[in-house]
Amino acid sequence: MTNIFALETKKLIEEKISGNLNKIQDNLPHVAGNDGVYDDTRPSWWTSSFWPGILWTLYDLTENEQYKNIAQSCNHKIERAFIEHPEKFDHDIGFQSLLTSVFKYELTGDEESKRLGLLAANFLAGRFNPKGKFIKSWDRAPGWVIVDCMMNLSLMFWASHISGDPRFKHIAIEHADTFLKYGVREDGSTCHILSFDAESGDFIEPIGGQGFGPESSWSRGNAWAIYGFANMYRFTGDERYLNASKKIAHQFIASLPEDYVPYWDHRVDTIENEPRDSSAGAIASSGLLEIADHVPQNEKRVYRDTAKRILNSLSENYATWNNPDYQGILVEGTGHKPKGNFVNVSLIYGDYFFIEAIAKLNGWNRHIF
Ligand code: GLY
Repeated sequence: MTNIFALETKKLIEEKISGNLNKIQDNLPHVAGNDGVYDDTRPSWWTSSFWPGILWTLYDLTENEQYKNIAQSCNHKIERAFIEHPEKFDHDIGFQSLLTSVFKYELTGDEESKRLGLLAANFLAGRFNPKGKFIKSWDRAPGWVIVDCMMNLSLMFWASHISGDPRFKHIAIEHADTFLKYGVREDGSTCHILSFDAESGDFIEPIGGQGFGPESSWSRGNAWAIYGFANMYRFTGDERYLNASKKIAHQFIASLPEDYVPYWDHRVDTIENEPRDSSAGAIASSGLLEIADHVPQNEKRVYRDTAKRILNSLSENYATWNNPDYQGILVEGTGHKPKGNFVNVSLIYGDYFFIEAIAKLNGWNRHIF
């Protein structure tokens, strides 16, 4: 069995990523299908920053300049697209800026990257609806809020810290409180999309989105919420957020199948022929490790051990270590099952959060999210 606690998995990751450098170069991948070759998406697509995020992480861990050089080129593509066409970007500027401009600033102190990170934070803050107290996700539906945005709030806290201006974090707190009120159910499951009247700010209804329905429990959405609310606790010290994260984690853990890698929605009627979502497992693992950092000693084990079990299963049963030509690390990711898009594929964000979680287990404690 691959021992994720030794340096072995870290070594396997380094081999895979250094082998990918010449193949992927400064492309911006999203999905790899059966041939294992990652595509190249547009810089404004929400996943564009995960490859540079992987490279900055590897640079941080190894100080190998090759990672940094390609990461900088990816940064440049995304930053230029944002400056030239901000209208093509949405709330996911959080993912995109944190893993490019902010990461580079944190590692190198580059002032231009800091300026671009603050520009992105202002863009995200500008999406705030003061009546409904939420950050809108997409311009095409100005009353919609999606659970994924919990992860983008880290950009608001970074901006307050860097600029000394608390408005950014005030917005993040209002948004998190709104999602906590309407999006986290009593049983610890979450819904993907909340619909509000953008004019009055009134809540209208939950929408299924990437889960199978309004009352379903989309596993990646729950993973974003576990991680996002644990971060909210780290930033604010407000126990409500830690309790929310724990409650969502308990529902997530209770829903895991025998091999600890979740199906795409925890509430599918029957698991027969339903795909897994390895990315949800990777994201949840990193979020569970975040919870473990904040709970008392006697509670740490359940979160840390579950994260290790998920990561071990991913490494053992879902990783492509034995196929150097295959560019993705994890197989069996599911992007958007209801639309039939990106099912049973490698997803670059699954790879990113797998690497991030393994790095945390190896003592890496830089917080980009
Ligand atoms: N919409 C972001 C995700 O698929 O998680």
